[in-house]
Amino acid sequence: PDLSQMYNLNDFEFVARHTMEKTAWSYYSSGCDDEITLRENHASYQRVFFKPRVLVDVTNIDLSTTMLGTKVSSPFYITATALGRLGHDDGECVLTRSAAKQDIIQMIPTLASCSFDEIVDAATDKQTQWLQLYVNKDREICENIVRHAEKRGIKGLFITVDAPQLGRREKDMRSKNIEDLSHVQGDDEEADRTQGAARAISSFIDTSLNWKDIKWFRSITKMPIILKGIQTVEDSLLAVEHGVDGIVLSNHGGRQLEFSKPPLEVLIELMPVLRSKGLQDKLEIYLDGGVRRATDVLKAICLGAKGVGIGRPFLYAMSTYGDAGVYKAIQILKDEMIMNMRLLGVTSIDQLNESYVDVRNFQTR
Ligand code: FNR
Repeated sequence: PDLSQMYNLNDFEFVARHTMEKTAWSYYSSGCDDEITLRENHASYQRVFFKPRVLVDVTNIDLSTTMLGTKVSSPFYITATALGRLGHDDGECVLTRSAAKQDIIQMIPTLASCSFDEIVDAATDKQTQWLQLYVNKDREICENIVRHAEKRGIKGLFITVDAPQLGRREKDMRSKNIEDLSHVQGDDEEADRTQGAARAISSFIDTSLNWKDIKWFRSITKMPIILKGIQTVEDSLLAVEHGVDGIVLSNHGGRQLEFSKPPLEVLIELMPVLRSKGLQDKLEIYLDGGVRRATDVLKAICLGAKGVGIGRPFLYAMSTYGDAGVYKAIQILKDEMIMNMRLLGVTSIDQLNESYVDVRNFQTR
């Protein structure tokens, strides 16, 4: 179908499923094990209902907000997803260009198909990019990556903490895509990164990474440090204790631990605890997994998130319609945001709070 017939983000997934090469589709779409967490990420949003207010002047709607000190046009960002070239020849640079045109942030993955510098070079001067880091066993490699990123103007270091080993994505394994990628990180910049990530991920990532290492990261960079893949209230509190600038509540889009809770549910548990301890302003809270509609974004913001990450929909938009597809997907979300904020009775992001949502369906667990 023509791009003009894409009405929402799920439409891109539908087209992708029917047109993408099978191996790429399997890698992008898969979750771990029986994909229960993957489905729950989506289902969790269906348990929250709105409490809209009426008779509010909603003529002018402002979607803009700030994330880690950067002013952005809307409270969602393109999160890090590996191997962009499986879906499009220009890989992650497609996402960079569309993010620039739409004034939203892109998080660059460690396991990008394009090199880090290619992706930074594809950005405009005023564009903000973050870096997702898989921590290498070799801390010298790690330090070089971090220092180089800072030098190139990266505005946030997102350390992925939910993947000491790669989850089993069986759909992906069956399609025999991701087998060998020997030089995905390190000295060989020319390595063909699209040959597969699974083995590389489990081989170079440091399984000994622990809370003590956070101090070391703090000592080598001035970039804000955010832990990506926090899944409990307990670890959120430890994150505060360790002085990080933010956390991403995430179960890696349902690709790591099966039966990890939906991030939205963790957020609902976390915010009252942070408030009761007076810690709510100590760090910025982000969340990702299953966000497909502006209503999902709005629910997360109402419940305390500073912003939300979106992964697969942008991969699908990129793989099916390239630059124009990603641009359109972002535009769809923004249009949905404006309409739904009007219907909710708010005119700016900072007005959103828990009084606009009913979370009673969550009180049972
Ligand atoms: C990911 N994700 C991910 N996360 C990370 O920290 N490093 C990575 O390399 C990747 N790679 C990756 C590849 C693919 C194909 C997917 C789908 C996801 C996880 C990602 O950052 C994010 O947590 C989820 O994608 C969010 O869920 P949705 O929006 O895809 O439902």
